[in-house]
This record gives sequence, C-alpha cells and structure tokens, in this order.
Amino acid sequence: MAAPTSSLSLLLLVAAALISCFATTSLSSTFTDDNPIRLASDGLQAIESSVFSLLGNTRHALSFARFIHRHGKKYETAHEILTRFDIYRENLELIQSTNKKGLSYKLHVNQYADWTEEEFRRHRLGAAQNCSATFKGSHKLSHAVAPAEKDWRAEGIVSPVKNQGHCGSCWTFSTTGALEAAYAQAFGKNISLSEQQLVDCAGTFNNFGCNGGLPSQAFEYVKYNGGLDTEEAYPYTGKDGECKFSAQNVGVQVHGSVNISLGAEEELKDAVAFVRPVSVAFEVVDGFKLYKEGVYTSTTCGSAPMDVNHAVLAVGYGIENGVPYWLIKNSWGEDWGDNGYFKMEMGKNMCGVATCASYPIVA
Ligand SMILES: *[C@@H]1O[C@H](CO)[C@@H](O)[C@H](O)[C@H]1NC(C)=O
Ligand SMILES: *[C@@H]1O[C@H](CO)[C@@H](O)[C@H](O)[C@H]1NC(C)=O
Ligand SMILES: *[C@@H]1O[C@H](CO)[C@@H](O)[C@H](O)[C@H]1NC(C)=O
Repeated sequence: MAAPTSSLSLLLLVAAALISCFATTSLSSTFTDDNPIRLASDGLQAIESSVFSLLGNTRHALSFARFIHRHGKKYETAHEILTRFDIYRENLELIQSTNKKGLSYKLHVNQYADWTEEEFRRHRLGAAQNCSATFKGSHKLSHAVAPAEKDWRAEGIVSPVKNQGHCGSCWTFSTTGALEAAYAQAFGKNISLSEQQLVDCAGTFNNFGCNGGLPSQAFEYVKYNGGLDTEEAYPYTGKDGECKFSAQNVGVQVHGSVNISLGAEEELKDAVAFVRPVSVAFEVVDGFKLYKEGVYTSTTCGSAPMDVNHAVLAVGYGIENGVPYWLIKNSWGEDWGDNGYFKMEMGKNMCGVATCASYPIVA
C-alpha cells in the first residue's frame, strides 16, 4: 500500500481494523535529455554496453542488463544504477539461497528484484490488522467430506487477475474477485466490478481507500449501499477520489456475507470446497515479493495472529508433492508469481491465511 503521508493517516492505520497491502509499481522515474545514462528506451545491446561501462562486464552485470530491459526499468543517474545493482545482487543471492534449500516453492527475478524489503514494506505495507470481528464466524459447516482438490477456475467462475498498481487497495480486489465469482456462479454470466467505487465510497464501513480496508466490511458497504457498479461504469484509477456511485450502473447486489471463524482452516476449506471462492488475508513477509511457483511456506510470517497485511482470494486448494495448499488469486497482475496466482501451505494457518476470511451472498 502507499506509505502513510501524514501522522493522521498513520493513526488511522493503527487504530482501524483494515487491511493495507503491497501494491505494484516501479520506483523509477523517467529520463530527461540531461540524464547521463539512457536505458529503458534502448535496446538490450545498448543497455548492456551502458551497464558494462559502469559495472564491468560480469555475469551479474549481464543479468542486471537483461533485467532492466525485460522490466522496462528506468534509472536516472549512474548513482541510481549502482544502488539498484547492489539491491539486485542481494535479491539474486536471496533467490539463489532460497531455491537451493529444496523448499516446496521457488523464487525468481521479477519486477521487484531491484527493491529492498525495507522499501517494499515502507512504500507498500501498513500496520498489522485487527480481524477479531470474525472471531465467531457464521459459516455453516456442510458436514460433507470435502474433495481432495478444488479449483473454481475449472468451473469458469473466476474472473481474470487484475493489477492494483500503487494503491493499497488489495481489499477492493479481493472483494470484487469474490463478488465476480459469486455473480458468475449465481447467474451464469461474467462480470467485472468496480474496485474504484470501494476505494472512493466504502469509508463509512471502516475502510480507507488506498490506505486499506477489509473485504468483509466492503461486502457490508455494498449491501447497505444498494449495489456495486460495473468496472466499465466506474473504472479503476488507483487513487483516492470522490464517490461517483450511480445506482443506474449497478452490476451486483449483496444480500449478505459470511465470516469464517478466526483461524478455522477446516471451516475455510469447507467453504471453498462447497460454497465458492473466499476472500482471505495473510501476512506478507520478506522474499514473498519474488515468489515464482510452488507451495509457499515461511517460518517468519503469521507469528502474531493479527499481522495480516494483504487481502486476496482463495479459489481452491490441493496437494502438490505431498504438501497441501490453498490456491490463491493475487492482484499484482498476471505476470506476477504463477500467472498472477500463488499457493500457500494449508493446515498450519500459514501466514494467518484463515485469520480474516469471508464470502458474499449475491443471490
Ligand atoms: C481488536 O478489536 C477488539 C474488538 O473491537 C478489541 O477488543 C481488541 O483490543 C482489538 N485488538 C487490537 C490489537 O487492536
Ligand atoms: C464479518 O466481520 C466483519 C469485520 O471483519 C464485520 O464488520 C461484519 O459485520 C461481519 N459480518 C457478519 C455477517 O457477521
Ligand atoms: C467467463 O470467464 C471464464 C473465466 O475467466 C471463462 O472461462 C469463460 O469462458 C467466460 N465466459 C464467457 C461467456 O465469456
């Protein structure tokens, strides 16, 4: 999420029950003709020769040049290139050492490989969240035996992965993802719904636009507001703005929502197996930004049950190489992770994944 810009918003972050989140954007700025080194607009060969002249013709410099080219990075000064190169090498080391451990997941070089964890946290992540309202959930267990695997994508109700950009609006994408799936399931039609309406208008339900919020509170907002507009009618800007909700453009109504009891993964599994995709939240920790594929596990996340900082959508579960996982849709674009998705170990409330889960009722 965006870093708090004032002590007031910092206070809000700490005091409120909301989920702020990591977002995707580049720290880079554009070149001007005065800049000593032009990189992003150039071809790979030109980038390589600029990088080599500055960093020497090494294996790491070559890999860095390819990274710059591939991700369209723009650095303004020689100093910035040197700084980003140092960070890039540290991230490379993290990727290599992590991937050598034979864990159930892999990291890779992606668009965040020139960011420090501190930078990522400072610019994209907010305070720990309070989801205690879900302590006693309202999901009714089906008492049926859940199938060993589930993937709602196979049923054609999961909408495409979106990209939240540099706004701490993960909670709105988790909300629209859940509603889009619920709508397709109920009405047999695809729909794309407005995140921006939630960013701009859902403040009365304890949400804070680009500074975070909760899907459960967004469902309540939509219910009492009388609907959520379509994406087309109320497109995403990724910035806090004035509410422009129009009742004529409503795409979906919410009749209610169901919270999963805090930490109850069996309940969550029952809901994902038998009901529909469920909005969940978890704690993003160091290294996660570089996730590539496999079942993510961590020994550092979720130690405090309330430390969830990113809202996403659980669309299934399964077992990979003997490790049970949640299949989760992220909102960092399709080129992040496993086609925009990731897998999170299931059965240990890994990273607090069952701390703050809920799903909507639309029909
Ligand atoms: C979370 O909210 C509950 C209920 O409002 C409150 O009792 C508790 O102190 C809060 N915890 C934190 C860490 O804010
Ligand atoms: C679910 O929990 C949220 C807080 O996370 C709360 O605002 C909401 O009222 C709860 N919904 C239901 C249906 O209990
Ligand atoms: C609806 O979306 C799903 C998932 O994105 C896709 O598989 C399906 O073909 C779409 N259906 C229509 C009618 O566009």
